[in-house]
Amino acid sequence: MRKSVLISNVLPSEARALIPADYGVDYNDTDIPLPKSELIRRLRDKDALICHIISTVDEEVVAGAPGLKAVCNVAVGFNNVDVAACKKRGIIVTNRVLYHDTVRAEADAERELRAIYVDRDALLREADFVSLHTLFIPETKHLLNEGTFRLMKKTAILVNAARGPIIDEAALVRALKEGWIAGAGLDVFEEEPKIHPGLLSLPNVTLAPHIASASLDTRLAMANLAVRNCLAVLEGKPAITPVA
Ligand SMILES: NC(=O)c1ccc[n+]([C@@H]2O[C@H](COP(=O)([O-])OP(=O)(O)OC[C@H]3O[C@@H](n4cnc5c(N)ncnc54)[C@H](O)[C@@H]3O)[C@@H](O)[C@H]2O)c1
Repeated sequence: MRKSVLISNVLPSEARALIPADYGVDYNDTDIPLPKSELIRRLRDKDALICHIISTVDEEVVAGAPGLKAVCNVAVGFNNVDVAACKKRGIIVTNRVLYHDTVRAEADAERELRAIYVDRDALLREADFVSLHTLFIPETKHLLNEGTFRLMKKTAILVNAARGPIIDEAALVRALKEGWIAGAGLDVFEEEPKIHPGLLSLPNVTLAPHIASASLDTRLAMANLAVRNCLAVLEGKPAITPVA
């Protein structure tokens, strides 16, 4: 029998495209949560639910769907799902990672990491935690700015342990003060070692002194690699990790 999935709210087209064509898909393409009675009715004959935190998946909802095998939350948090009620019925509950990069990862890596490739704006609109890992190059200066903060969820947390100028820090201060986003964790700063004064008094930001690589093992590996690169070049061999 063909497998059937209910997608209870809007999902990026890249993510929907991963579902095989021979699956039955019931898609609510709005960001308005389905009323409970409709969620129960539409889930009744489904094998799986793909939902966001705005869908409450409680005992009554899962009890009405005897064939349900998976509840797949598009979020890290899963407080909208009654995990115990699902477990009791053998229903697997998952929460999924979204990512964006200028270079898409191999399909195997996506599968292994359970990561879904989406465009940048879709990621910012969907993610509960946005963690930056891009390089700082001219193209990524102020990649996160007033416009992109306004795309993010009001409940979202931003983490930057990459490089400070990727974020427009003045816009971030406004975003945190005015509640466009919920909070931030910053290891790096736009004009390091200076920190935007607006960040210092905010209760919803955690600051660290650029320590993301500060373990003995990591620093030793970094130093060893720099020395090995140096020796390779001086001995007329290809550099081990050239920048370009
Ligand atoms: N806080 C710290 O102590 C610390 C320590 C190590 C690295 N870093 C920083 O962390 C970041 C990541 O380091 P890494 O070793 O993972 O680098 P990496 O080169 O392995 O990965 C960078 C990724 O950014 C992607 N990218 C480039 N331009 C992009 C864009 N415009 N939009 C989206 N993606 C883009 C690249 O394709 C690449 O996959 C760097 O900025 C690095 O300087 C910080």
